Amino acid sequence: MSQQLIIALSKGRILDETLPLFEKAGIYPLEDVRKSRKLIFDTNIEQVKLIIIRATDVPTYVELGAADIGVAGKDVLMEHDAKGVYEPLDLNIARCRLMTAGMKGQERPQGRIRVATKFVNVAKRYYAEQGVQADIIKLYGGMELAPIMHLADEIVDIVDTGNTLKANGLEAREDIAQISTRLVVSQGAMKMKHQMIQPLIERLAAAVNNN
Ligand code: ATP
Ligand code: PRP
Ligand code: MG
Repeated sequence: MSQQLIIALSKGRILDETLPLFEKAGIYPLEDVRKSRKLIFDTNIEQVKLIIIRATDVPTYVELGAADIGVAGKDVLMEHDAKGVYEPLDLNIARCRLMTAGMKGQERPQGRIRVATKFVNVAKRYYAEQGVQADIIKLYGGMELAPIMHLADEIVDIVDTGNTLKANGLEAREDIAQISTRLVVSQGAMKMKHQMIQPLIERLAAAVNNN
């Protein structure tokens, strides 16, 4: 039996930009993934299957070898800090920044602060490096609301256009990282399925350069 290759794609806003890149690299699902309730899809290449899952679950699948390859934002990868995972290619899509932000015109208070974010691990590391004592409050979205409601002094979140900050009376404070979408490959798959994976990385790299 020929080897299978499982590729985990992030659903949500990355997917619309990921599928055309994979199509340019010669891989496309055999049905419209947005019209289906299925989570696993056959592709034009018999051995290649696509699974479409929550962005935050992609590193888990790849780290544990349930998927060979994944597509995920650098923010998600930094937060998960997956072990045994290579990051061979920047797909250069969904570019944005991970930043701290707070109410416009207010300074970060002295001493211990409260920070609301879904990037708990990134935030802990960042404030520790800055020598700022921070109590981290885990949220799952809409972080911009937290300072308004006095739940937190600051947030750590994605900023792209800055529209969400502005619309809620917040301003960006510090840059934590430049974010874009990355291709990740499990070390085991890279070793065992190198002959399938290496050409795919090369075709995707060419697709990224033409994008
Ligand atoms: P969920 O909605 O399932 O909690 P999520 O918010 O992490 O997940 P998306 O909003 O689909 O998922 O974002 C996926 C990825 O896209 C993020 O991990 C990040 O890399 C990038 N991203 C998020 N927000 C933006 C944005 N406003 N502009 C550009 N890229 C973004
Ligand atoms: C993301 C992010 C910010 C916003 C930034 O939110 O968390 O809130 O986009 O983009 P902007 O700078 O262009 O306004 P999303 O819409 O994904 O909602 P979420 O908080 O539920 O993830
Ligand atoms: Mg989001």
